[in-house]
Amino acid sequence: MLAVETEWKAAGAALQALPGFGGHTQLRLRLAGRDCHVQLLRYDVAAFDETAFAGAGIAMPATIQRSVRKRQAEFFFGRLAAALAIKEHGHAAVEVAIGAMREPIFPTTLTGTITHTGAVAAAAVLPAHCCNGLGIDIEQPIAANSIDSVEQLVLGPSERMVLEGLAQLPYPMALALVFSAKESFYKALARAVGRIFDFSALRLEGIGLPAQRLHFVTQEALCADWPIGSRCEIGFTLLAGGEVLTAFSW
Ligand SMILES: CC(C)(COP(=O)(O)OP(=O)(O)OC[C@H]1O[C@@H](n2cnc3c(N)ncnc32)[C@H](O)[C@@H]1OP(=O)(O)O)[C@@H](O)C(=O)NCCC(=O)NCCS
Repeated sequence: MLAVETEWKAAGAALQALPGFGGHTQLRLRLAGRDCHVQLLRYDVAAFDETAFAGAGIAMPATIQRSVRKRQAEFFFGRLAAALAIKEHGHAAVEVAIGAMREPIFPTTLTGTITHTGAVAAAAVLPAHCCNGLGIDIEQPIAANSIDSVEQLVLGPSERMVLEGLAQLPYPMALALVFSAKESFYKALARAVGRIFDFSALRLEGIGLPAQRLHFVTQEALCADWPIGSRCEIGFTLLAGGEVLTAFSW
């Protein structure tokens, strides 16, 4: 996807002091015809505690107060990455609230997206006038004991054939890419569609490895802008920690 992950930035003392903080990198992507910086934060759940929220000035909703430490950590580092992305666009710190469909609510002048796995969280924003929707997603290569269940959730028969024909990419990574791309697509369209739609809404047609792009076609009418048969390309890159990251804007 023409992405460049810059080496670990020398994080400020305030970030370094947060419990569980493991590092900060930036990934430069080309989205909606402009440069977009994905803010990536590595973290260690075992070293995390909830004092981080007050330390970074991030609001802790009641649902998160009641959550297990892993959920608190992923929520915290996702919101912290969002705060870094918002700040880069010249906005003061604002609370990124939780929407009715669990979507993050960014300031109205920005379109934003958040993702996290067990050890890394990321967020990206674009000016709202540049795009209708933005989604990013990070996944680990699919573990051997989860391959069957992820295939059943994410893939139709023709998509399985596309992946099986991809000799250059390890299958657990190729499967993670399709899973991740569909989740990025969902995040970017969820507000416009206004309902949950299933993984079968999007069918993989091919993967362009040199250009780092997955090619999909919609299998159902999603909204006025996305009738059945609409085609889209979703970019991907591999992160330094071995995860896949996909990103989609429209
Ligand atoms: C919403 C969903 C995509 C999030 O995926 P996840 O496995 O929890 O993965 P991530 O960690 O990457 O993303 C979580 C973040 O997504 C964001 N998110 C959740 N719901 C969202 C929505 N409706 N729209 C946009 N972003 C959303 C949130 O910021 C969330 O983090 P937070 O709860 O800490 O704020 C997933 O839970 C889901 O519901 N998938 C089913 C629908 C789908 O993907 N269909 C495929 C269509 S082709």
